[in-house]
This record gives sequence, C-alpha cells and structure tokens, in this order.
Amino acid sequence: MKGVVLAGGSGTRLKPLTEITNKHLLPIYDKPMISWAIGTLVSAGIDELMLVTGGTHAGEFLRLLGNGHNYGLERLLYAYQDKPGGIAEALGLAERFVGNDPVLVMLADNIVEYSVRHAVDNFNANPNGARIVLSKIDEPEHLKHLGVPELIDGKVVNIIEKPDNPPSSFCVTGIYMYDSSVFEIIKTLKPSGRGELEITDVNNHFIQKSAMAYDILEGFWGDAGESIDAYWKVNDFVRINGANKEK
Ligand code: TTP
Repeated sequence: MKGVVLAGGSGTRLKPLTEITNKHLLPIYDKPMISWAIGTLVSAGIDELMLVTGGTHAGEFLRLLGNGHNYGLERLLYAYQDKPGGIAEALGLAERFVGNDPVLVMLADNIVEYSVRHAVDNFNANPNGARIVLSKIDEPEHLKHLGVPELIDGKVVNIIEKPDNPPSSFCVTGIYMYDSSVFEIIKTLKPSGRGELEITDVNNHFIQKSAMAYDILEGFWGDAGESIDAYWKVNDFVRINGANKEK
C-alpha cells in the first residue's frame, strides 16, 4: 500500500499564523505538524509516501523531511499543487506514484492518539473500493462543522458536509483508503460551490457503488486546522498524551 499526505491548502482558519508559513509546518507540541501525520502512516506500515503541498513554503518540507529515511520511510516523493483546488485535486496529483496499488491518504492537519494500523490491515484484507475512518464526536454543535456519515444497518449510506441536522454522532476523519479506481472518480468531479474538488464527493461515489467500508477510531482525533482553539486543544492533548501510540 502506498501513502499520500496532503499538506497544501490555504489554512485561512489559522490566519495570521498561516500568513508566514504553511499550516503543516506549525508546531504540534515538539514537532512540526507534518511530522505527526507521517508518523501516523509509518506506524500503519507505510514505507513509500508522496507528500503533496503548495504555496510559498513548499521548499521547507524538503528541508525538514529530506528523503524520509529518518522518519522510517524507504521512499519519499513530493508533488506541488499549483493552487488550493481541493483535497480530491491534491490526491489526483499522486496518480502516477500510486499506480495500481491501494493507497492510504491522510490530511496533514489530522492527529490521532492511536495507530490506525488495524484499519489499514482491514483494508489490506480486502483492498477494493474505499474505507474511511470515523470518530465519535460528543458535541452536536461540533458535528455541524464536519463531514457526518448517515448510517443505516451498520452501513454508510451517505456523507453530509456540515449538516444542520447531523444524521449520526460520528465524523469522517481525514484518513481514507482507496483502490486505484479513485483516480478515475476524481477525473469525473466538478468543482463545488467553493471551487474545490471535494473528497466527500469521492466518498459518496464509492457509497453509491456499495463499495464503502469503515472503522471507528479509538481514542482522540483532532483536526488542528479547524480553528485556533482546535489547534491549541490538539497541542495540549499531544503534549500530555502523545500521538500515534500502539494500543
Ligand atoms: P482544509 O482544512 O479543508 O482546507 P485548508 O487547509 O485550505 O484550510 P482553510 O479551510 O482553513 O482555508 O484542508 C484539509 C487538508 O487538506 C489540509 O490539511 C491540507 C489539505 N489540502 C490540500 O492538500 N490541498 C487543497 O487544495 C486543500 C483545500 C486542502
């Protein structure tokens, strides 16, 4: 399985911090944010990875991560996204790198308390279609800002972005697994109202084909890019508890 880490975007919700650097280079406790995401993929068994980034600080990733060997990677490749055209567009840049292999995708502003290796093992056992990772969210107000799956008889039947009435108490985290058909789906997408190719449209495509599975995450999940308060909440959590731990 190949790995793709997405570290482009605009980071507008963390302005003005992101006026002067890329969001994923900001610290989470004692390391740049991107290091934790790479740690998540490495702890899940990935050793070939492509990092997609953009903007004016792309070179800093190379300076930090180099060839990736110090992070436990055999191969680390880079792709440059010309403009923040969406998560699905960023993933599309990895098509030639991924080839016909299954791929584990992670948004570089997500942090997990525990390794997601079990979810990856589940996908590797049947590497067809897609598999998402859900996290239980206790605050209904928070769900209204996230992608929320509608679950019927234990199956995801739809994912709704930022729902007024959340159909479940789970959110879709920024950890996705796909077979290589994902790249054909991305080519069919039309930009959303905000002008981006949306990963939720990709996921709903797999759902419509009855090719979507999921795992529920144990422990903490955070999106450090959601707000400045979320950024500090994630920092505090990682300082006290760590991240990417083996269960
Ligand atoms: P978002 O947090 O949805 O977008 P953003 O990073 O641009 O932030 P904001 O909404 O505050 O402006 O993106 C989630 C992750 O996806 C982010 O960590 C980086 C990645 N991403 C890309 O790689 N390319 C893109 O074009 C976008 C939009 C996001």
